[in-house]
Amino acid sequence: MNNETLLKNLRSIPDFPQKGIMFRDVTTLFKDPECLNIMVDELYEMYKDKGITKIVGIESRGFVISSALAIRLGAGVILCRKPGKLPAETVQESYTKEYGTDTIEIHKDSINENDVILLHDDLLATGGTMKAAYNLVNKFNPKKIYVNFLIELVNENLNGRSIFDEGTDIQTLIQV
Ligand code: PRP
Ligand code: ADE
Repeated sequence: MNNETLLKNLRSIPDFPQKGIMFRDVTTLFKDPECLNIMVDELYEMYKDKGITKIVGIESRGFVISSALAIRLGAGVILCRKPGKLPAETVQESYTKEYGTDTIEIHKDSINENDVILLHDDLLATGGTMKAAYNLVNKFNPKKIYVNFLIELVNENLNGRSIFDEGTDIQTLIQV
């Protein structure tokens, strides 16, 4: 029922940012107070007993829910950003995505071995972005890494889940 509300409110835009891409526009879920509540409530229920200490939010649409959920979970927020945006020393990883290549980075002093990490982004397409973020976070040897997306693309033969090692804890709220 909740997920029907999310699916109903998700806007799809053909041929953005280039021809052939059906862009799933999560901003229509962010702007709707009911959808925002549903997403944060569902994620809180999913992760409340996991001992999450930090949420790593992925630029830029991953930042929105990361902060709302972190407040509910009593966790901190780490920004995983495009290059050149973070001011202190960083660790980087490059990756291929559905429509191009990119690099992401996080601050070198952001995670320690006692952390239980929740990696969060709005959408799973090829999985390239999140896999790069996973590899980055894994370098810090945290106790555990959970992976979460609001939207999983399942109808475009991208099979983003398959890029992750078997046993990786990946949860998604809606599949399109
Ligand atoms: C989109 C989306 C994810 C990523 C998913 O971000 O928000 O981060 O692509 O694709 P993948 O699973 O194939 O890696 P985008 O790169 O458009 O960046 P933005 O959020 O800064 O606009
Ligand atoms: N990122 C990669 N593919 C996407 C899509 N189809 N919709 C929204 N964001 C994306």
